[in-house]
Amino acid sequence: MRLWGGRFAKKPDELAHQFTTSLPFDRRLVEHDIAGSIAHARMLGRCEIITADEARQLEAGLERVRAGLSSGELRLDPASEDIHTEIERLLGEQVGALAGKLHTARSRNDQVALDLRLFLREEIDSLRQGIASLQKALVDAAEGNMDAVLPGYTHLQRAQPVLLAHHLLAYFSMFQRDRERLGDCRKRVNVCPLGAAALAGTSFPVDPSFVAEQLGFDGVFANSMDAVSDRDFVLEFLAHAATGMVHVSQLCAELVLWSSAEFGFVRLADAWCTGSSIMPQKRNPDIAELARGKAGRVFGGLVGMLAVAKGLTLSYNRDYQEDKEAVFDAVDTLSGAVEVLREMISTAAFQRERMAEALEQGFLTATEVAGYLVRRGLAFREAHGIVGQVVRYCEKQGTTMEDLTIEEWRSFSREFGPDITECISPRGAVEAKASPGGTAPERVQEQIAAARKLLKE
Ligand code: ARG
Repeated sequence: MRLWGGRFAKKPDELAHQFTTSLPFDRRLVEHDIAGSIAHARMLGRCEIITADEARQLEAGLERVRAGLSSGELRLDPASEDIHTEIERLLGEQVGALAGKLHTARSRNDQVALDLRLFLREEIDSLRQGIASLQKALVDAAEGNMDAVLPGYTHLQRAQPVLLAHHLLAYFSMFQRDRERLGDCRKRVNVCPLGAAALAGTSFPVDPSFVAEQLGFDGVFANSMDAVSDRDFVLEFLAHAATGMVHVSQLCAELVLWSSAEFGFVRLADAWCTGSSIMPQKRNPDIAELARGKAGRVFGGLVGMLAVAKGLTLSYNRDYQEDKEAVFDAVDTLSGAVEVLREMISTAAFQRERMAEALEQGFLTATEVAGYLVRRGLAFREAHGIVGQVVRYCEKQGTTMEDLTIEEWRSFSREFGPDITECISPRGAVEAKASPGGTAPERVQEQIAAARKLLKE
């Protein structure tokens, strides 16, 4: 069945059909297509474009199609061009010629935009829940490891001691913004395009607000040409999904690095590692690697859709059909990655002894020593220079700052006193970082409390 055979003497070439059909993927919109059609049928009846009885029959027929498809009694025919055609065909089997009235005052152009918006709205809601449950796993891990201190890095060089909880909560913040961005994007997704018809609106007395209300939209389109060709909501979603995957990839990269023998900061659960087919000893973080790798396809979807939309003239062009696979793939990839990451984090065993060992080398508290001198009146720049000499001295001697005698300290500055030893302990350094948002335990506890509050909202 085709929705447009009348003016053609011949059927489309089979190859052309194969090339253009969207049914293999837009079948995923089946529920949304039916829901949209029911709302449209009700509106047609209410606005007396069809009779109330016809509207009721159409709705009942669509309900039967829905039930038949979900029970398996009805099947989609791959010969159809798209899900919209196919639902109308199945409706015809239920209600006969009356099915032909459903498309009054509607085009597939506004219909497909509607379906995709309905789909995305639902998926955004479940993605946001998925991200929240990953965030919860991060807060739980932070709270359960408040005594773990590890090197914080810049340039992947040991920099300053930080609480593991602080490190994990940095990811909480990233995912919080991802969740907020998706929520913000949802506002622009949740605008109803139905009633734009092909591009110009319709001469039938439709009520787009009624349809919008039926389907839970916050508003209706302002311009019919924009309504059928706007794919900003797709671009926006893909950009936010891509940003989410950046964060996923970063956390996964840490798990991969930290689970190496060189770092040893984390031991991933057996269930979240795989073995090697040749090396019996291996325990590979494949799942984390793959989640990291899958960021690439989401970026690809975004760049692909930008390229599809760029330079397109108004209004609907078939090019837009390309939007669906990019959206589906981004939704599946992000939701899958977030879920596995949540499980990996909640089953990971953080290795605080290895973290403590890593704090012994690398002069991580050198900044603290400079601070010590500053509190005794030296300019920071001068203090920085003195501590630099201390570090150079230790390196030459092959010792650490902990090994220095008070006489050695005082040879660099008369300001050093015996309390310098407290200042160079990693735990002391962490406790001293009590500035707002810093790594001191009380500041981190505040972050945990704030995070828990955000998760409750
Ligand atoms: N499969 C099409 C899409 O995904 C549906 C809209 C087709 N509209 C048209 N005028 N050919 O965009």
